[in-house]
Amino acid sequence: MNISIFGLGYVGAVSLACLARDGHKVIGVDIDPVKLALIQDGKSPVIEEGMPELMADVVSRQLVQISQDVEASLLKTELSFICVGTPSQANGSQDQTAVLRLAEQLGKALAKKTSYHTIVFRSTLLPGTVEGVLKTLLEQHSGKKDGVDFDICFQPEFLREGSSIKDYDNPPFTIVGANSERAHGVMQQMFGHLPGEYKKTDVKTAETVKYFCNIFHALKITFANEVARLCDGLAVDPFKVMDLVCADKQLNISTAYLKPGFAFGGSCLPKDLRAMQYVAKQADIEIPMLGHVLASNAVHLQQACQKILATGQRKIGMVGLSFKSGTDDLRESPLVDLAEFLIGKGKLLNIFDPEVSISKLIGANKKYIEESIPHIGDLMTTDIDALLADNPVIVLGLNDKALVADVCAKLTADHTLIDLVHLKDISMLKARYIGLCW
Ligand SMILES: NC(=O)c1ccc[n+]([C@@H]2O[C@H](COP(=O)([O-])OP(=O)(O)OC[C@H]3O[C@@H](n4cnc5c(N)ncnc54)[C@H](O)[C@@H]3O)[C@@H](O)[C@H]2O)c1
Repeated sequence: MNISIFGLGYVGAVSLACLARDGHKVIGVDIDPVKLALIQDGKSPVIEEGMPELMADVVSRQLVQISQDVEASLLKTELSFICVGTPSQANGSQDQTAVLRLAEQLGKALAKKTSYHTIVFRSTLLPGTVEGVLKTLLEQHSGKKDGVDFDICFQPEFLREGSSIKDYDNPPFTIVGANSERAHGVMQQMFGHLPGEYKKTDVKTAETVKYFCNIFHALKITFANEVARLCDGLAVDPFKVMDLVCADKQLNISTAYLKPGFAFGGSCLPKDLRAMQYVAKQADIEIPMLGHVLASNAVHLQQACQKILATGQRKIGMVGLSFKSGTDDLRESPLVDLAEFLIGKGKLLNIFDPEVSISKLIGANKKYIEESIPHIGDLMTTDIDALLADNPVIVLGLNDKALVADVCAKLTADHTLIDLVHLKDISMLKARYIGLCW
């Protein structure tokens, strides 16, 4: 294909060299004449393993042209990649000056184009930027319509400086956010050969994923480093610890615990976090990230409290009380905290939890309910039908499949359902639906 690349920093230069290597004819555009001169001489504008050889090769085979002319470059090509910088401003906000200016120029160039064109944004952009301001600029300045005369896509870039070419050839996946099958057709033709699945999504999700991949990496590094500081204080080898932490592919290095849901609780997680926080305090070790995990969990609980209060109803039915489905353990259950908060706000509660109801009569939890939370034990019912009939607001905190199906089938248009577990399918639900943060 004939491709134009706008912005020849790390992302643009590596893309230019790799696309040319793969047999495409590429025009590289930048406002920096030094970068253009380097490429013209067959030299790489960025220091990257393999780039000097690759750039020399593709330039010598005349697969690459360079230009400062946005319009001519767009008109000569069918596909454009936008790779200009989007640095931080002093206040942390994203500086979009380059991409906004470029979108205006691209729009003016598109006005003169008589055939279909695909514009792919690869710069990291705040969610909503492409379909908001960039699409508007392109349409305004071209007088044409996205999805009709041209298509816009967002394809997050996952290369890492230092191993860019390897990462370009071995991405974990290829994510393309687009609104048209025509654009996906072009992109699959370009990148379908790469290892890693080609994933279609909407534009805003693609923009967002890039942020949370990077933030997750930052979080993982910080986790390992805070663990190391704590281990240092405890005279334990952090490498032995983290090697073993990483050896667990079921719970640790896996998708476990990575689905949005309700606050965590139970007899282990909060207790063990607090114990390590105390170790840190005693040894003067700063662990700002781990030290704020419980505070973040409390904020999440408050989110549920606020959503329930916002219904303005006094009578509330809670389905679930234990800290997770399939157990009767009430120790540090966030649903118990939620119930206590609502009682404190003068709400009238009914609570249904089949596991807890049994343990209210027998088992280890009987004593806990009678001695520690008798005020909550008294609000429990074993009659789900009565709970649904008596309460206009139902808080779903249990994820038992059969119970969820039964509750959902019995809810009426007079109910409001506050979903803390993320129901998979709400299409048949008659009640007003409020998700925790979805
Ligand atoms: N560097 C990385 O490892 C990496 C990885 C993934 C995503 N990203 C994202 O990709 C984008 C580019 O990153 P980078 O590190 O390659 O940036 P960079 O700063 O190295 O390069 C950006 C280039 O854009 C050029 N430019 C600015 N305005 C222009 C215009 N109007 N027309 C043409 N060129 C123009 C600049 O002269 C510069 O050469 C950023 O949004 C970044 O967040 C970077």
